Amino acid sequence: MSVQVIVGAQWGDEGKGKIVDHLSENVDIVARYQGGANAGHTVVIPSRNGKTEKEFVLHLIPSGIFHRHVTCVIGNGVVLDPAALMAEIGQLNQMGIKTEGRLLISHNAHLIMPYHKLLDSVREKGDQKIGTTGRGIGPAYIDKYMRTGIRVVDLLDRDVLCKKLKRNIEQNNELLSKMYNSQELDVDAIIGEYQEFDQKIDEYVTDTSLYLNEAIRKKKKILAEGAQGALLDVDHGTYPFVTSSSPTSGGACTGLGIPPTAVNSIIGVVKAYSTRVGNGPFPTELSDETGNRLRKIGGEYGATTGRPRRCGWLDLVSLEYSIRVNGITRIAVTKLDVLDDFTEIKICTGYKANGKLLRQFPTDVQTLDVVEPVYKSFEGWCSKTSAVKKYSGLPRQARKYLEAVQKLLKTDIWMVSVGARRDQTLVVR
Ligand code: GDP
Ligand code: IMO
Ligand code: MG
Repeated sequence: MSVQVIVGAQWGDEGKGKIVDHLSENVDIVARYQGGANAGHTVVIPSRNGKTEKEFVLHLIPSGIFHRHVTCVIGNGVVLDPAALMAEIGQLNQMGIKTEGRLLISHNAHLIMPYHKLLDSVREKGDQKIGTTGRGIGPAYIDKYMRTGIRVVDLLDRDVLCKKLKRNIEQNNELLSKMYNSQELDVDAIIGEYQEFDQKIDEYVTDTSLYLNEAIRKKKKILAEGAQGALLDVDHGTYPFVTSSSPTSGGACTGLGIPPTAVNSIIGVVKAYSTRVGNGPFPTELSDETGNRLRKIGGEYGATTGRPRRCGWLDLVSLEYSIRVNGITRIAVTKLDVLDDFTEIKICTGYKANGKLLRQFPTDVQTLDVVEPVYKSFEGWCSKTSAVKKYSGLPRQARKYLEAVQKLLKTDIWMVSVGARRDQTLVVR
């Protein structure tokens, strides 16, 4: 194996952090390829005495950081908020997790600026609310594609940074005051703040594409960690209710500067039911007591914003699509234990629109808003799975549920997660 890509197969929060942390035991490098601090990847690690656990939510640093032998890379495709990064590094260091020499940041990654966050929040006050995380992601990617963005490398040259920042802040101040009637930003204060980051970030910055390609040549094992999920992809998701990057597997190559030929496995992380946070279509959403139960048992509240996640049954129509656009070779099913107490569990196997069965997942929101899910019903197992150690030890009904998913999706299930801890992971041989 050289590069294995880990993608969220739904609308994010599938448990990518847990799966990446679990797999990190056997890899050399974990590299994030897109998104920014909109991500919240939860990792539960045993304490030093091994008796208790600690939960840590990573926003920018790859989920392999808790394995001391792993080098973590933040690729060029990520939009980096230096304030969020420094806070995360500080928290990790405080816990005794070393980042020096183990964290590499691409010199080509774009920076999130205070005006990106401000623009994100004022835009969300308009008519078409996406329900963003407010982390400045959309505006930062706009600047990247407008070719006016500021990159990590620009921090290294004081004059270039001042010139670019001045131009951007002046332009954005005009936009903020004239269009959004919002307060203007102080150019000098921002320049001062970002020059301070320069000194702190300097030791981590390098040509990460070169580093990764060298590692591929040396046959190192690399995990490419996606943020968000395929249905939030700017090209393949439920546009416009998407994020502004490419969480699908193709994004791993552009976001890290590695060739597609280096990728030999694509793992789709699939939650055993569905959730979505923010606005946009969600065909299997349950706005009833069952949805509330899923939220409560699954602890479905955003790891970044704390917002309650919308919950619903597993949706195989969107998953079949996700497997296709990502080229998913194997699946890791998470949070199976959340379904432990349900007497009946449903899977959506088709969509109907105007009385007709749809053959493919429609990505236009007008159609998605009106489709009616067709369900297949399964008997629940009504017993605890969180202490199960082997796939064969799962209740018969749980295996039946998983095997139906595998068969209908024509894709092998490789792992089943029955709890947030590392040891609550069953590998299916
Ligand atoms: P990510 O963004 O895909 O990394 O997922 P999040 O961290 O946002 O959300 C997943 C949540 O589920 C976190 O609180 C995890 O600790 C938790 N989790 C992960 N796997 C399991 C599991 O198998 N069972 C349960 N009960 N919780 C899990
Ligand atoms: P992880 O990596 C779930 C959603 C937001 C909103 C849309 C656009 O933890 O799975 P943005 O701030 O990116 O412009 O918001 O995308 N969103 C996520 N939903 N998990 C995430 O990340 C998300 N990151 C963004 O809620 O609907
Ligand atoms: Mg998350």
